[in-house]
Formats: sequence, structure tokens, C-alpha cells
Amino acid sequence: MTDEIKKGLLGIVVDETTISQVMPEINSLTYRGYAVQDLCEVCSFEEVAYLILNGDLPNSIQLNKFKKEEKANRNITINLREIINHMPKKAHPMDVARTFVSVMGLEDKETSDNSPEANMRKTMRIFAKTPTAIAAFFRVRKGKKIIKPKKDLSFSENFFYMCFGKVPQKEIVKAFDISLILYAEHSFNVSTFTARTITSSLSDIYGAITGAIASLKGPLHGGANEEVMHMMKKIKTPDKAKSWLIDNLNKKQVVMGFGHRVYKSGDSRVPTMKKYFLKVSKLKKDENLHKIGEIIEKEMLKRKNIHPNLDFPTGPTYHLMGFDTDFFTPIFVIARITGWSAHIMEQHISNKLIRPLSKYKGSKHRKVMLLNQR
Ligand code: CMC
Repeated sequence: MTDEIKKGLLGIVVDETTISQVMPEINSLTYRGYAVQDLCEVCSFEEVAYLILNGDLPNSIQLNKFKKEEKANRNITINLREIINHMPKKAHPMDVARTFVSVMGLEDKETSDNSPEANMRKTMRIFAKTPTAIAAFFRVRKGKKIIKPKKDLSFSENFFYMCFGKVPQKEIVKAFDISLILYAEHSFNVSTFTARTITSSLSDIYGAITGAIASLKGPLHGGANEEVMHMMKKIKTPDKAKSWLIDNLNKKQVVMGFGHRVYKSGDSRVPTMKKYFLKVSKLKKDENLHKIGEIIEKEMLKRKNIHPNLDFPTGPTYHLMGFDTDFFTPIFVIARITGWSAHIMEQHISNKLIRPLSKYKGSKHRKVMLLNQR
């Protein structure tokens, strides 16, 4: 045993996984051995979700079965709809999401069954119902009626439909689908590690995902995509981008959407997402945010040699698609449920209670004084 402290578990390997890795030989994030950018070229989000959860890409029979199950599980209960209807309208959608996943656990008869079969069934229910609940709150807080899911739409099409009442152009849906693929999984990041830690006490998947959502909310993790948008709204126009950045760096403030614990020479997901950010900007005939992004990226590289992470292009892309800024991280949740669930199941299969040590630096042993002597 060593007394050396590795704050933030920096550089510590805590377990093995077969789900994903940033492969050094190709400098890319891989899911089950496939580079994410290659998956983006040929697969739908549903195929990648299947891959992450089952270990291999599906054939057409397996994919159809998976899609059918997802569609069959999209509806949420009247009880949950009522709860969402009564959520405070000003609540952050991430807090609402964490609450309704917890409620879904109360409604599920299999919550405490941690067998692999039950965990896979629960994963499908969480995966299919969470977008419905997120879209419901998207509308409810604007005073609009909840739209029920439609079975003839794909996962991404259906999410747009439930939020806006219509499905946009196929290029927009494709860009959204790509963002879900890129967000789906990223090894032992903080929310996944939270989910695995909760699971390690043999707790259930609903609790683990509820905790993971709370962890993802933070601006150093998933919340960064919202912060990027706040930053771009402050900058307003490309001509202000450089001076804003210099001012920010002079104040020693962190620039959101830049830097990464694992990637130090560029996030392998960024080039793909940037391509779709530009496509969406052109389709929407609004390249203002894209131009701001280009300047910030160039200056960050020049001045700090720090690269953008995935949150940098996704935030403004979601904005152009019409999503409210505080719904960007809930969209990340929709995608990451796949990665979290795969890790929760992996943890259950080879569990060891996660219980690190700390170095005590509090007061020395002292005697307890009676109340009237203190
Ligand atoms: N802006 C300015 N300086 C930065 C940034 C940034 N975004 N990121 C890192 N640095 C500097 C940091 O100040 C430090 O400098 P120094 O050595 O002079 O003190 C150095 O780079 C190393 O950074 P670190 O914070 O020690 O690195 P870390 O691995 O602990 O942190 C991070 C990684 C993601 C928390 C950090 O880069 C950050 O705060 N980024 C902004 C938030 C963000 O975009 N988060 C999303 C992360 S990726 C997707 C996800 O997980 O959701």
C-alpha cells in the first residue's frame, strides 16, 4: 500500500473493460474495437446502441428486433406524465431527468433484480422511455401539450417529433444521430465511474443511472455543451471572438468545450461533429456560431495548445436545431444511457466493491467534553 495521493484518480487504472478505449495506435475512441468515426460513416444510432450493449454489430434480424423492442417501450406511464406536468417549470431539465429516471425505478417491477437478463430488459426500458420523458418536459415547461411517441419513426426522428411536433430535414436528423453515436460511450469518465461505483455496492440500474445523470450535469463534464452555448451567446459576433478569448485567458478562466483528461492532442470525435456542425449551419443559413467557433479554436491552439472536445461543436449544433440550451445535456443523457448501462452490466458480472482510501489530515485524537464544559 502506498500513501501517494493521485487527486482526481489521475492516471490510475481501476478496472478492466471490454466496452471502449481511446486506442493509441489509431489515436481514436473505439467502441468494442470499432473507431467511432467509422461507425458514424455507416451506422445508425440504433446499430451503435446495440453494439455497445451486446458487444457486436447487429445483423438485420437482430437490428429489427432491437428497434421493435425500443419502439414498443417508448410510452411512459400516466403517473410519470402527471409528475412531469407538475415539475417546477424553472427546474433544470437535468434535475428533472434525474428525478424521472428515479420514478421509473419505482414503477418497474424488476428494479431490484440484478440478473443479466433483467438488467438488459431494464436497460431497454430506460433507453426507450427517457427520450419520451425529456421531450415531455421540453414541451410542458413551454405550456404545450405532451406529444406521445410514434412507432413508425426512428429513434432520432421520434425525439424531434416529440419535442417539436414534426420531423426536420433528413440531414438535420442525420447530424443529430451522429451526435448521439459520438456521445454514446467514453470509458471511465466521471458519470460512468459514478454509475459503476453505485453498482459496486450491488445497488440497481435505476439508482446507478440516476447518480450518473447528476454527475453528467456538472460543467466540467456533460454540462460543458451548455456552457459553450452561453459563451457563444456572450461573444455574439465573430469579430468579438478573439478579444473575448484573450480577455478570458487573461482572467485565468477556463474556456468551456476545451481540454480533456484523456485526449491531450485532440478529441477524435471532434472532426466528425465539426463536419455536421458546418452542414447544419449551411442548411439553417446561419454560419455565425460556426465562425465564432473557428476563431476560438484557432486562438486556443495558438495561445494554449489546447484542443476542443466534443462539447464544443455539439452545443451550437443543437442550438441551430432548435433545442433550448439547458436541454443539450439531457440529449447527452439519451445517448450515454447505452454506455452507462453496458458498464453497469459489466460491473455486475465482475464486481468488487469500489472503496478507495483517503489520507487523514484532520485533528489528532481528542476527548469528548460534556456539553456544559464546551
Ligand atoms: N481552458 C483553459 N485552460 C485549460 C482548459 C480550458 N478549457 N483545460 C485545461 N486547461 C489548462 C489548465 O488550466 C491547466 O493549466 P495549468 O497546468 O497551467 O494549471 C492545464 O490545462 C491542465 O488542465 P487540467 O484541468 O489539470 O486537466 P484535467 O485533465 O484535470 O481537466 C477538464 C480536464 C476537461 C476538466 C478541463 O480541460 C476543463 O475544465 N475543460 C473545460 C470543461 C469542459 O469542456 N469539459 C468537457 C470535457 S470533455 C466531455 C465530457 O466529459 O463531457
